[in-house]
Amino acid sequence: MLYLITALILPAIFIFFKKWKKSKNSKSMKRLPPGPRKLPIIGNLHQTRNPPFRCFRDLYNKHGPLMHLKLGESTTIVVSSPDIAKKLLKDLDPCFADRPRTVAAEIMWYDCSDVVFCPYGDYWRQMRKLCINDLLSPKMVRLFQSIRRDESNRLVDSLRESSGSSVNLTERIFSLSSFVTCRAAFGGVSEDNERLLKMMSDSLQMAAGFEVADLFPSSRIAAALSWTRLRRMKRMRRELDVILDDIIDLHRRNRGRNSEFGGEDLVDVFLRAMEEEGLMFPINNHNIKAVLFDIFTAGTDTTAVTIDWAMVELLRHPRVMAKAQAEVRRAMQENTNSVEQNDIVCDMKYLKLVIKETLRLHPPAPMLPRACNEEHVINGYTIPAGAVLMVNIWAMQRDPRYWNDPEKFEPERFEDQAVDFVGGDFKYLPFGTGKRMCPGMTFGLATMESALAQLLYNFDWKLSKSVRAEDLDMTESFGLISSRTHNLFVVATLYN
Ligand code: HEM
Repeated sequence: MLYLITALILPAIFIFFKKWKKSKNSKSMKRLPPGPRKLPIIGNLHQTRNPPFRCFRDLYNKHGPLMHLKLGESTTIVVSSPDIAKKLLKDLDPCFADRPRTVAAEIMWYDCSDVVFCPYGDYWRQMRKLCINDLLSPKMVRLFQSIRRDESNRLVDSLRESSGSSVNLTERIFSLSSFVTCRAAFGGVSEDNERLLKMMSDSLQMAAGFEVADLFPSSRIAAALSWTRLRRMKRMRRELDVILDDIIDLHRRNRGRNSEFGGEDLVDVFLRAMEEEGLMFPINNHNIKAVLFDIFTAGTDTTAVTIDWAMVELLRHPRVMAKAQAEVRRAMQENTNSVEQNDIVCDMKYLKLVIKETLRLHPPAPMLPRACNEEHVINGYTIPAGAVLMVNIWAMQRDPRYWNDPEKFEPERFEDQAVDFVGGDFKYLPFGTGKRMCPGMTFGLATMESALAQLLYNFDWKLSKSVRAEDLDMTESFGLISSRTHNLFVVATLYN
């Protein structure tokens, strides 16, 4: 009997010991980056608060620039140093060129068949190329100059009417930005613009990856908890379908005559591509709608948020406001009052520095969301396949290790720095970098420069009564795109 027990138990102990040793070895070989202690089930969720990029910066100060967080079931790696960002996004490009999938992106961006959320690969390449060629190339952006001029004039006219009284400038800037995007991409402004703006802000907030259903994808309880929000999202998607189907039908009826310039706009280009046989991945209405919502959201929100922050910072810094206004007014007076001409905006060097500094302190996309498609070892730490990567550009662009007096709004800091937008300097990445870098940079910069030049030229600015510049609430909202939580109310007085 004893012999029998020994014969059964000893091998079991041996196997258990071998397995334990193996798992211990594999754990030590696969050393995850450091991070705060995790609780069972929720991981580090109890340590995160809004907005996450601020909270991740505080955690980075304790745990270092390559940090591992467990957010529910999701393994998240937060990068907060230019060196590591360069390794992952440039040296290892395209291993980190995927995007994390979120429930909101699946619903609102048509199962991620757009450009922003789509997995890296040939389909993404095809769709991105169509957008660049026919909407976002420098040649096209130049062509849209008259749209920017019209919309900037319309904004000036509306402000002129309320000269001397308090106006919600944020709302008007969002209208300008969405009108420019729609007229360039869809050949006109949708009657449902207001509704599209509301859907945009809700969807971008939900797409940030912090929905319960994203954090616990395998849990039925989580699915039940998210049920109401998911139902609301699906209802919103049905509404979006109706609006976008209308835009596509209208374009089908007026084929080739939809662009304001007599030819094709982006919707026509996609409709033509749909009929031609040359595409590697045939497309249908579903794919066109995904890209249209992409362009509307990526083009409108980022640009409007940056113009808004720029105005807030200028109001808080009268010296910078005066210097920028003097430059714009001088350039305008020397050039027959036409700020819209590209060459005049080119002369406005200080205005460009103001935009650069605004994008440093307030990048509209504060974290670059990427996903790791295969396991990699970085600085001795393993980044597992499937991990979500968050490159915290907000933290890097305010890090005293790389910037003097980083919290100060000082456009002059860029005068003698060769730092540019193009993603080559990893401490400054407002438009991202590598394969997934923003293709709308030229489009966005042109809209921002034109609108800001008009606002500074035509008006003198002050805050509404009883608000002092130093008391302006600078809290950022939470979402894939982060804006100022509060709208900006100002009094614009017509400049002589
Ligand atoms: C202030 C203006 C803008 C800023 C700061 C900005 C910033 C960004 C950032 C940070 C990304 C992610 C890049 C990465 O992962 O490396 C991005 C992606 C993208 N942006 Fe922009 N953007 C702006 C304007 C625009 C405009 C005007 C459009 C189009 C009309 C646009 C279209 C896109 C698209 C389609 C993507 C996805 C690219 C991809 O995943 O391949 N953006 N943008």
